Order: sequence, then structure tokens, then C-alpha cells
Amino acid sequence: MTFRIAPSILSANFAKLGEEVANVIASGADWIHFDVMDNHYVPNLTIGPLVCEAIRPCTTAPIDVHLMVKPVDRIVPDFAKAGANIITFHPEASEHIDRTLGLIRDSGCQAGLVFNPATPLMWMDHVMDKLDVVLLMSVNPGFGGQSFIPGTLDKLREARAKIDAYEQKSGRRILLEVDGGVKADNIAEIARAGADTFVAGSAVFGAGKDSDPQRYNSVIGKLRDALAA
Ligand code: DX5
Ligand code: ZN
Repeated sequence: MTFRIAPSILSANFAKLGEEVANVIASGADWIHFDVMDNHYVPNLTIGPLVCEAIRPCTTAPIDVHLMVKPVDRIVPDFAKAGANIITFHPEASEHIDRTLGLIRDSGCQAGLVFNPATPLMWMDHVMDKLDVVLLMSVNPGFGGQSFIPGTLDKLREARAKIDAYEQKSGRRILLEVDGGVKADNIAEIARAGADTFVAGSAVFGAGKDSDPQRYNSVIGKLRDALAA
């Protein structure tokens, strides 16, 4: 199993965002997770396409844009132009889920659906052919630094079973990503429940002292060691 670690720049130092992005990738991360909040669909306001465009030259790693915005469709082309590689959105925020997934794929990006803790997985059932990623929220969206909701483990097993059945039938791969409260002490259990891609914000960017240039290396190493154990 190949595991991907996707640090969420929500917890990075925004005054040095380009350096933070380059550092975390040089320290062994696989993707940059980019949280977009609109103070409407979620109660917080973060970053948009201009910031995505600004960090694009800082890394060749995939930028994984997690849209917590409503409406969804009109912002999709802007993120595609800004260099996003993966765009995921919440089914509750889109009027036409199938259409939004098509729009993302037509813009040249990989597409995914994001499930809040209380959102049932049935939303994926009729759009599997258009999914590249399924993202399960293990906290309620809006803020970094919250605790992992344990019920996510059962939901991950349920999502894993649906994805495995689909992969066997279609031969197409769908990634299973988890977002919220992922740390070195729970990542192994989350992986055993079926996740292959792990967002970690506060665990990565909150690690160590600013003065320690090895801090990201060390925390990403700990996450990988836990996955390998
Ligand atoms: C929450 C965001 C997450 C968040 C994760 O709405 O989608 O990506 O930054 O942060 P941690 O890892 O601190 O829970
Ligand atoms: Zn996120």
C-alpha cells in the first residue's frame, strides 16, 4: 500500500507560505492540502485562487484543493487555472453533484467528494465513475487543531468496502483520504480502517520549534514510521 501525507497549509505560517510549502515537501510530504473556506458554507474565511497561484511555483507536488464553499461551480475554473491538481467539494454545497464532478474533470483536475461526519456515504454511489478521491472529514469542517472523531473509523471501513468493490469491477483506482485530527499516535489505526491519504495540519506545522530546520522532517518521519509499523 502506498500512503500519501498531505500537510494542510491552514496551520502553516502564512507570512512565509512559499517557504513552508517547499520545506514540507522537501521534508517528505506528498501533497499540499489547500483548505478553502468562505465564511458561508463553513464559519471561517481562508484562502482562494490567488494564493494557489502564488504557491504553485514553490513546488511540483500536487496541490489538493479542499473547497468548503457554496456555491462550488463558479470557483472551479479559477482553481484549475491557478494550478490545482485535485479539487474536492462537499455534496451539500453543490446543486448538481454529477455536473460539478464533470466540471472539475473537464478543467483537467482530479475530482473528489468530501463527507462531513454526519453526511452519509450514499452520495458517492451513483458517481463512482467520476471520482478520483473520496475524502472523509474526521472533524467538522472549518478549523484546524480539532480532535479526531472516533466514529470515522467505522465510516472509513464502509467507504473502503465500497471503493474496493468498485475497483474490482472497473479496474479504476479511487483514493481514500481522511482529514482532521490526524497525528502520529492515531495514523496507524486510521490506515488499518482503510485510508491511504492523510491530511495533517496542526500535527505537521505545529511540530517542534521554528528555529529547528529539521522539525518537518522529524514529524513526517514519525507519521511514516507509524504507518510502516
Ligand atoms: C478542517 C480542514 C482540515 C484541517 C486539518 O476544516 O479541512 O484540513 O486543516 O487540520 P488538523 O490536522 O489540525 O485537524
Ligand atoms: Zn481540509
